[in-house]
Amino acid sequence: MRVAVGVTGGVAAYKAAELVRRLQQDGLEVEAILTRHAQEFITPLTFAALTGRKVITEMFSAEGDAPANVESAIEHIAVAQRIDCLVIAPATANTIAKLAQGIADDFLTTLYLATTVPVVIAPAMNVNMWEHAATQANLEILRSRGARIVAPDEGYLACGMVGAGRLAGVEAIAQGVFDVLGVRHDLAGETLLITAGPTCEDVDPVRFLTNRSSGKMGYAFAEAAHRRGARVILVSGPVSLAAPGGVEPVRVRTAEEMHRAVKEHLREATAVIMAAAVADFRPAVPQQTKIKRGAGSLSLELEATPDILADVARERFVATGGTAEHRGRLIIGFAAETDHVAERARAKLTAKGADLIVANDVTQEGAGFDVDTNIVTLFFREGGEVRLPQMSKFDVANRVLDELLRLRHPSSSPRSEFHASLDATRK
Ligand code: PMT
Repeated sequence: MRVAVGVTGGVAAYKAAELVRRLQQDGLEVEAILTRHAQEFITPLTFAALTGRKVITEMFSAEGDAPANVESAIEHIAVAQRIDCLVIAPATANTIAKLAQGIADDFLTTLYLATTVPVVIAPAMNVNMWEHAATQANLEILRSRGARIVAPDEGYLACGMVGAGRLAGVEAIAQGVFDVLGVRHDLAGETLLITAGPTCEDVDPVRFLTNRSSGKMGYAFAEAAHRRGARVILVSGPVSLAAPGGVEPVRVRTAEEMHRAVKEHLREATAVIMAAAVADFRPAVPQQTKIKRGAGSLSLELEATPDILADVARERFVATGGTAEHRGRLIIGFAAETDHVAERARAKLTAKGADLIVANDVTQEGAGFDVDTNIVTLFFREGGEVRLPQMSKFDVANRVLDELLRLRHPSSSPRSEFHASLDATRK
């Protein structure tokens, strides 16, 4: 998701840089817009360095200039269309008044009129300006239009006075943005160890056995969990995806390496999600030189790879001294099936010792390998199953993470209304 951070002229402008960082930590893409007065307090260079993007400071290329081209003339429209949220922090009384009255005399105020996305406004000003009836009336207008106002804190103000008017804390403003974007932080405190992608098992120096996993499912989990406040360790087989910002990637190639990496990080994990398509078999004796083409056929002897999921589940009980009912470290596995899906998924639930198995029929269109959507059924150790309709892998991940939270806190229900409505499909 992409957020435009608008900065107006006030002493608190420097805090907008911290806000940019905070939003980025949660995987949001940020672009910055500075009003002319903001540049009296902080330079565009700071924001360019933080965002890695051009910072918008002017409606036109230079004062009085005609726009350099059509793109720059309508850039506010382009920005309005590509962002998911506009946050203005700090917002001066002057900018608030302009927004309330629909005055569009610079890039930021024009963008406000041009965009339809949620708007978050964090005012900062002198206490008398804050309490003035004009300011309060303007804020009321903005509120009535749906803007989220993050009220300023009380305290010593830059002008020497004491009272309300200090820019709210970065966390409070970021929370306002997360709220309007529907980003939750209900996984804060969890460390999720997630596996993704295929493994490659060498036959000889030029050939290997692998499968069709693209990593999309596991990476969707990593992104969703990170956005919801979890620390994420992503153990990934070879894929062409970039690790989502903020997650800790661990790259591996073989089942053996994945096993080692998972074991190495297991103690840190409060939950494990095994979305990787780990090879079940590997060549028993990988050849050191390229196997030459002969006259006849070739037989490869394969041996079983370590069952990482079963190992992880076993270790949970050993490490914690817990019983099968122990919920300390939650274990979520997948089942990629082509037939008898429910039967095989239930068998895996028991055989592997997982709390939850996410089963997908990989022969179904829109499900399984290398597509952006999945169609899954969740099988619970505690009994019961939930069949989900076709949805994006990101939504599947969020739905499973909801279940993870429910297993963690059985008495509370963390489900969103959307997810609760899906429970109608629970058998
Ligand atoms: O990566 P994508 O292109 O997005 O595709 C997604 C997916 C199809 C790979 C994913 O949805 C999926 O089903 N992942 C599990 C694939 C798999 O290996 O399933 P399985 O039924 O063979 O294994 C069952 C479970 O045991 C899995 O959690 C697997 O990670 C784990 N396993 C398997 C073998 C092994 N040696 N060790 C394991 O831990």
